[in-house]
Amino acid sequence: PVILVLNGPNLNMLGTREPSTYGYETLADIAELCRRTGESHGLTIEFFQTNHEGELIERIHHARGRCAGILINPAAWTHTSVAIRDALSAAELPVIEVHLSNVHKREAFRHHSFVSPIAVGVIAGLGSNGYRLGLEHFAHLLEGFSH
Ligand code: DQA
Repeated sequence: PVILVLNGPNLNMLGTREPSTYGYETLADIAELCRRTGESHGLTIEFFQTNHEGELIERIHHARGRCAGILINPAAWTHTSVAIRDALSAAELPVIEVHLSNVHKREAFRHHSFVSPIAVGVIAGLGSNGYRLGLEHFAHLLEGFSH
């Protein structure tokens, strides 16, 4: 099974971007962590980041009927994008939302997510470990389906 791991705007800057909030790990480190986690659970990982909302939407459309699930850190689009939420609904795939930081102890505008109501679950504040835990949960869900 293929799991699509999607990353929204500015996440390409990880490592140098506000390290007190997001840590020193780079997006390449997180991609590697996802690949290794996928490998140990029999999941193929497609990892993608973009700063262009339409590009993310098209990736989501392309996952429909082809991927087993979507792990997404929508970054700032979490709080702004009805279009990404609608694309995720249209894909008809299980979605796990992940945030590196604990958005709930930050500014009020980060407390609302357009994605959370259509997600299986949300992980926030656990850094890159949230990606690993999200992927493990997909492995767990998929095991359930095959038994
Ligand atoms: C983020 C949290 C968002 O509020 C922010 O806009 C980001 C990153 C996180 O991973 O903690 O860009 O999604």
